[in-house]
Amino acid sequence: MILDTHSHILPNVDDGATSVKESIKMLTMLKEQGVTDVIATPHFKMMDLSESIDDFLEKRNSAYKNLLDEINKQKLDLPKIHLGAEVLLTMDLVEAGGLDRLCIEGTNIILLEMPYYEWQSWMFRIIEDLCSAEGIEIIFAHVDRYVNLVPKQTYEKLFALNHAVQINADFVDNKKAIRVLKKWIKERKINYIGSDCHGIDFRPPQIDNFMAKIGKIAGKDFMSRIETHSSELLSKINKAK
Ligand SMILES: [Fe+2]
Repeated sequence: MILDTHSHILPNVDDGATSVKESIKMLTMLKEQGVTDVIATPHFKMMDLSESIDDFLEKRNSAYKNLLDEINKQKLDLPKIHLGAEVLLTMDLVEAGGLDRLCIEGTNIILLEMPYYEWQSWMFRIIEDLCSAEGIEIIFAHVDRYVNLVPKQTYEKLFALNHAVQINADFVDNKKAIRVLKKWIKERKINYIGSDCHGIDFRPPQIDNFMAKIGKIAGKDFMSRIETHSSELLSKINKAK
């Protein structure tokens, strides 16, 4: 079992798949790479005032329906899709309320994307509010992508919150990220992996490349720990279906 916890496979929702055809090609690639389940996590950015949570969900759910109809019509055997969102942390995030609707389906867990500049104290306040006011748990998205921006001590602040952490499969080709992540892996700070795939050409699924290299980088126990976390998450999702 391999769960891809972070993907942009739904057609025409964000900067991911641009058609149902491309979504199906991406899912086929994921399947060939051994992925059994994938969480569709289109970008949600509260600062895009033109889009409310309701608008976003309507767009996401209708893209999912279109894709599923086509998969069923063609009787394709592809990874199972579960719904979620990749929510960018912004100052106004908690104000709107109702963020539980952006959680991974059947759970109280949000895939949260930290901003791409040095993390500041207001961000940690928002995270605290999100958890206390909305009862939400967090998976921090692709923590490997900030290693050039965020100092080690700030990362430690994030890890000290004791939420789950996801890394992107393509970190295995980033020498600096490998150096930094080796320590975190040893300290068992990583819970999930994701392809963060956006298309068949631009940021395609690379789970096969990850699987070929991860043993040497992380040791043999790493993937079994990822699998345990993934199975627990999947059973929460499936229980609610
Ligand atoms: Fe993403």
